[in-house]
Amino acid sequence: MKLFGPRDKSFVQVVEDRQSIRRFTQKNVEPEKLRKILEITNKAPSAGDLQAYDIVVVRDPDVKKALMLASLGQRFIETAPVDLVFLANEFRSGYKYGERGRKLYCVQDATIATTYAHLAADALGLGSVWVGAFNPTEIARIVSASEFQIPIAILSIGYIAEKPRRTPRRELDDLVCVVDQVGGPTRHFGKE
Ligand SMILES: Cc1cc2nc3c(=O)[nH]c(=O)nc-3n(C[C@H](O)[C@H](O)[C@H](O)COP(=O)(O)O)c2cc1C
Repeated sequence: MKLFGPRDKSFVQVVEDRQSIRRFTQKNVEPEKLRKILEITNKAPSAGDLQAYDIVVVRDPDVKKALMLASLGQRFIETAPVDLVFLANEFRSGYKYGERGRKLYCVQDATIATTYAHLAADALGLGSVWVGAFNPTEIARIVSASEFQIPIAILSIGYIAEKPRRTPRRELDDLVCVVDQVGGPTRHFGKE
């Protein structure tokens, strides 16, 4: 099966096109596509190359329903053909980096991995939405996480059944500033 289109989308085009998708068709996500998403995710950078995160694939209807109920009843978690649960792995990062590894790096690793998966889904012609509003204790129980695995995000993935409105973004000169003196004043970007 062809995973990408006749001409692969550029990275810039993927980023331009990506939007959160919360309505999915009934069509299943092919195992090859899911594998490709996971392979792309596996390329993500991580602190010390420790990859201090784990991913749980959920396709089972009862498990998806339980995830949905633990996530404020957000329906698309149940209706998506597949959910990926991203867990920060405190142990993998903590044994080398101590407190900073446990509190920060493993969370960053899991977050970057989720971003890669979110973009990979778009590149493969799928839609997805990042879910952060959930009860982490409940999610951990549902996916049988160990005490070292902290739920960071759920990514619900499927074929797109909606065209959502574009979400706004901050202006660059509000988002970005320039400092050109140690401890000195900041100035707006773009006002050289
Ligand atoms: C950390 C994080 C948590 C999020 N949690 C949720 C969520 O629980 N439910 C939801 O519908 N969308 C969630 N989103 C998606 C955002 O609402 C969405 O990315 C944002 O509105 C911008 O829209 P866009 O993705 O279409 O550009 C989350 C996104 C991020 C990055």
